[in-house]
Amino acid sequence: MAAMKSLKTIAAARRWRQGIDTRVVLVPTMGALHHGHEALIRHARKIAGPSGIVVPSIFVNPTQFGPKEDFSAYPRPLAKDLATCRKAGADAVFLPGVAEMYAADASVSVLESSLSTTLCGRSRPGHFGGVCTVVAKLFLAVQPTHAVFGEKDWQQLAIISRMVRDLNFPIVIEPFATVREADGLAASSRNAYLTPAERELAPTIHAAMAESSKLKIPSAIEKSCTAAISKIPGARIDYIEAVDASTLASLPNRKSAGRLAVAVFLGKARLIDNIPLPRIP
Ligand code: PAJ
Repeated sequence: MAAMKSLKTIAAARRWRQGIDTRVVLVPTMGALHHGHEALIRHARKIAGPSGIVVPSIFVNPTQFGPKEDFSAYPRPLAKDLATCRKAGADAVFLPGVAEMYAADASVSVLESSLSTTLCGRSRPGHFGGVCTVVAKLFLAVQPTHAVFGEKDWQQLAIISRMVRDLNFPIVIEPFATVREADGLAASSRNAYLTPAERELAPTIHAAMAESSKLKIPSAIEKSCTAAISKIPGARIDYIEAVDASTLASLPNRKSAGRLAVAVFLGKARLIDNIPLPRIP
């Protein structure tokens, strides 16, 4: 197998891309790769097929972090991340620096103005604008035919799908189901911020979601999930909402596909998770 190529500049990515006329599958990440990311890259390998190309990108994007968030503290274990990409079957990795991606006086961005206003958008103003802008730039640099996004960040997936539709990016968005630890906790780089005691409590969040999703009425699901998560010592609820899976509007009934979406602070970590609320015909 050929060595995995490191593409450090947009010019290098463009030059490399010119010679390729098979599928190119991009997996955008911020690094600190865990087994969830690894599963995404393996899925990209399947979509690409034997002749296609798999390219994860690793870029800790400053524009999606709020002023009080963990941009400088965000882990950057580059050598380990490159080994993970190689092991999962990547052909190249796009690794731009901040100065490569953003001019100091950059003044153009991509804003999604509907789906971004709910759920995480309420407590993280500007976050999804930063995500849309960087993902659009990654798309333009790498020019993938397909891009893989995790369902773990359901709102992000919905917003990127909307951006691709509304700006006519010629790219197929491939969702990938949430990868969980054995006890149900969604895999996340931010789980590392939990103390051992908090880590033991954290799976209760998913258990509460799964249990309450058995109810039929969306408002009852929210109520029961809120009651259960409120009992976790030290947990602070940001939101617990049953929403329409594609519009993210409050779910009035089970006649369309929904999602139960949750954000909870546990100690220093803000944990997010979501599960399907399938349509009940
Ligand atoms: P990051 O948090 O590194 O996540 C990269 C991709 O991995 C996203 O598509 C995310 O949904 C997916 N992912 C993370 N944990 C997962 C899990 N447990 N199961 C399934 N998929 C999982 O999301 C971002 O980076 C950034 O916002 C980015 C899109 C790269 C733009 O900067």
